[in-house]
Amino acid sequence: MAAGESVRVGIIMNGVTGRMGSNQHLLRSIVAIRDQGGVESNGRMIMPDPVLVGRNEEKLKALAKRANVTKWTTDLDSVMSDDSYGIYFDAQTTVRRVDAVKQAIAAGKDVYCEKPTALTSENAYDLYRIAHEAGVKHGVVQDKLWLPGMMKIKKLIQDGFFGRILSVRGEFGYWVFEGDRVKAQRPSWNYRTEDGGGIIIDMLCHWRYVLDNIFGEVKAASCLGATHIPKRWDENDKPYDCTADDSAYATFQLEGDIIAHFNSSWTVRVRRDDLLTLQIDGTEGSAVAGLREVWTQSYADTPKPVWNPDITQPIDFFNSWNKVDDGINYDNAFKAQWELFLKHVVDGDPFRYDLLEGAKGVQLAEAGVDSWNKRCWVDIPKLERLT
Ligand SMILES: NC(=O)c1ccc[n+]([C@@H]2O[C@H](COP(=O)([O-])OP(=O)(O)OC[C@H]3O[C@@H](n4cnc5c(N)ncnc54)[C@H](O)[C@@H]3O)[C@@H](O)[C@H]2O)c1
Repeated sequence: MAAGESVRVGIIMNGVTGRMGSNQHLLRSIVAIRDQGGVESNGRMIMPDPVLVGRNEEKLKALAKRANVTKWTTDLDSVMSDDSYGIYFDAQTTVRRVDAVKQAIAAGKDVYCEKPTALTSENAYDLYRIAHEAGVKHGVVQDKLWLPGMMKIKKLIQDGFFGRILSVRGEFGYWVFEGDRVKAQRPSWNYRTEDGGGIIIDMLCHWRYVLDNIFGEVKAASCLGATHIPKRWDENDKPYDCTADDSAYATFQLEGDIIAHFNSSWTVRVRRDDLLTLQIDGTEGSAVAGLREVWTQSYADTPKPVWNPDITQPIDFFNSWNKVDDGINYDNAFKAQWELFLKHVVDGDPFRYDLLEGAKGVQLAEAGVDSWNKRCWVDIPKLERLT
């Protein structure tokens, strides 16, 4: 193919009228890639050509108009059997994922999907096995890895800034309104186990790939979940019982003797730098990462406090932190991963964020629930990569 030419890639986008599908995947990723002229790969441009799939014609029409996309359908089977669409993307609610992705694999599509890939690690691994055996390409959203905050931390580690890393403290969450006095800002299924909800299954998938890829493989987990708010009001203002955990207090042991502790909560008010912060403490320095910004404190800048509650604290602990300014203009994290996946599909570029990696996330979430139920530590066995 001559330089400057473009390669069209048809993408079935299912569940795209939802929160993640609309904003992150369609508008900020696929439409943004289209608007920038595609993804450059091997001297040509990969141009995504989406068809939006959903149940509600009106919603699809409105979204298609907003995104300036011409194709949409309520008939999933019709596009599954259409060879001009090579990729199936799934951002439906989690309970629907396994069947839909299996259908796509059976139709010979390459598959890319949101996390969690399944609700049990058995089903998640099975999905990996089926995709592997079918020989299709596969990927799972692991967006946090491309957040500017996480990329800056990775660079600090590469530069040896921390010395030996001792611990990682993650604080994730914000107040999700119950839906009576103030409308909830998350879907109600998140608070019902029977509909695939729960913060453990939602967030431990993320913590798995963040920890594995940046700090060290997770070896064991201990987790305590809680349903702090037992009743909420849904999208139609109807009250419902919360059957799923809305908070999780989890500790992980990583390779290299690093200890990670993550609080994840939809019942916490924010008085910290961002909705997610990670504090990393090492022998030579520490850092606090938000979604975009990172602050560091070197050994030389470390204050020497003395405990004395009888006087006003003489040290301003915020003074000895320096904001990292690397001058890099980071792209949207979801878009960055989409671009890698598209290059993987078209040109076979390496892509490690596949259904096996996705299954590892589900495995950790399952271990978290198991630990909570049994009130014990749970070891995380290695999931086998098939050849
Ligand atoms: N990567 C991330 O940071 C991140 C963040 C939030 C959610 N997620 C994941 O994304 C997925 C979607 O979450 P969301 O918050 O966008 O949910 P949502 O409820 O806003 O959207 C769900 C989508 O699934 C569709 N859907 C639901 N039931 C359906 C049915 N019976 N038939 C056909 N379609 C149906 C809805 O129409 C909608 O398009 C979940 O698996 C969730 O875990 C990922």
